[in-house]
Amino acid sequence: MTNDALKILRFFRKKGKGEMEVPPLEKRPRHIAFIMDGNGRWAQKRSLPRSAGHAAGTEALREIIRACDEFKIEVMSIYAFSTENWNRPQEEVNALMKLITKYFLSEIDELHEKGVRIKILGELDRFPGEQKLALQNAMERTKNNQGLKLNIALNYGGRAEIVRAVKSISQKCINGEMKIENIDYDAVSREMYTMGDPDVDLLIRTSGDMRLSNFLLWQTWYAEIIFNPIYWPDYNRQTLIKDLNEYAMRDRRFGRVKTK
Ligand code: FPP
Repeated sequence: MTNDALKILRFFRKKGKGEMEVPPLEKRPRHIAFIMDGNGRWAQKRSLPRSAGHAAGTEALREIIRACDEFKIEVMSIYAFSTENWNRPQEEVNALMKLITKYFLSEIDELHEKGVRIKILGELDRFPGEQKLALQNAMERTKNNQGLKLNIALNYGGRAEIVRAVKSISQKCINGEMKIENIDYDAVSREMYTMGDPDVDLLIRTSGDMRLSNFLLWQTWYAEIIFNPIYWPDYNRQTLIKDLNEYAMRDRRFGRVKTK
């Protein structure tokens, strides 16, 4: 994308005005997961190609990563490409792949400087060589960073992740490395791509669609969910702060009754 095209996209994205306060740290989620939905509809509304929606979505993502880092969110997980997304028209898949690789190549220095640790959730083997390399480099370079943990789900499916865990645990039992009676929630969590991260506290899905779409099925068991009706390219720092305030007001009981 040319610089002029980028300027136009930035102009199209809504600007936030009159910022709300961010809730105090103890009221903020430790782990936020985003389903960045509505790129295609955002573009369609403006008579732009779907790929322009994904490019504008990348701009929104850039802003939200910065905001999560600034707000001291521990883990941010984003759904960038699902196992089902391969079924989109080849042209769109190619455009998304290019965008994702370009994003990594252009942002990695800044993210690394900020101490962001990048982890890819999903199977990278299906990605073409150049993309795979850029993704592996990003993970390798940032793996010891201590700042925001950024999980990027690519060629990811929640059910596939659970099946992978079941296979791995079964193999450990067969090998005698694990006993069936020792299989508990923690043992299963350790087999997930998100191993070591806290469970998702808040899941935000934009665009008004209300479903999980096979995202982090294990990790979202008691997540609070916000279905924000705006399209992802219009999601910005201010809408995030609004959603953080809504989260701070929620009464999280984890299946228990309220004690006072
Ligand atoms: C859903 O919108 C969005 C996606 C399938 C892709 C999300 C990708 C990005 C935001 C781009 C960049 C990602 C990285 C990691 C740089 P949709 O196309 O399903 O929208 P629609 O439901 O309106 O058609």
